[in-house]
Amino acid sequence: MKTVPVICVDGPSGVGKGTLSLQLADSLGWHLLDSGALYRVLGLACSQSAVPLDDAPAVATVARSLDVRFQSGGDGVRVWLGDSDVTTVIRTEAGGRGASEVAVHVEAREALLLRQRELARLPGLIADGRDMGTVVFPDAPLKIFLTASAEARAERRLLQLQGMGESVSLARLLADIEERDARDRNRAASPLVAAEDAIVVDSTTLTADAVMHLVRDLAVSRGIVEE
Ligand code: C5P
Repeated sequence: MKTVPVICVDGPSGVGKGTLSLQLADSLGWHLLDSGALYRVLGLACSQSAVPLDDAPAVATVARSLDVRFQSGGDGVRVWLGDSDVTTVIRTEAGGRGASEVAVHVEAREALLLRQRELARLPGLIADGRDMGTVVFPDAPLKIFLTASAEARAERRLLQLQGMGESVSLARLLADIEERDARDRNRAASPLVAAEDAIVVDSTTLTADAVMHLVRDLAVSRGIVEE
């Protein structure tokens, strides 16, 4: 059986993983795993069922029966929770905070592990997240760890949220990003850390296109994709 090539794109919030992953998946014709969306949906599902986000066993129970679906289409990937299209609602700042609160629970993470691995299908998978290279796909032939200063990330996020009609201050966003970074880096379960064999790419002063070309060239040089 042919092994499915996986390119992991890990890194902190707002660093451009989503843009890079989508561009890579589109240009290669590969599948895309947005693992952050899974945690965002889990946070939302818990809130909707009044499950406290710090109740580890209860959050894990919700994770095990999470009725989440990803649907690729002309306007990108739509995310469904049961019969509701939650694509937009999970992208808010509150959605990100809820995700990072449920993501600290090891049992809930384990419940989502198999679902993520099942998405690795030919011709290949771009896996976007925090622990793609360290935990979910440790044997992936290319692991990128994307970084950028917290200020640059807050500015990018501001533009993104303004585009969605959400109004937030830059200072508030920076504080949120730093709080989320600290929680993601310091948690016991799958903390945000570059895999030993990851290539660290600092995107602070790079355009999205430049990052995309850099990663594509790496994939070509490793024989994962053709020129
Ligand atoms: O990438 P995104 O901002 O959508 O992720 C939301 C939150 O989900 C992150 O702050 C992190 O706490 C959690 N997450 C995670 N592991 C992943 C992806 C996301 O813990 N692989």
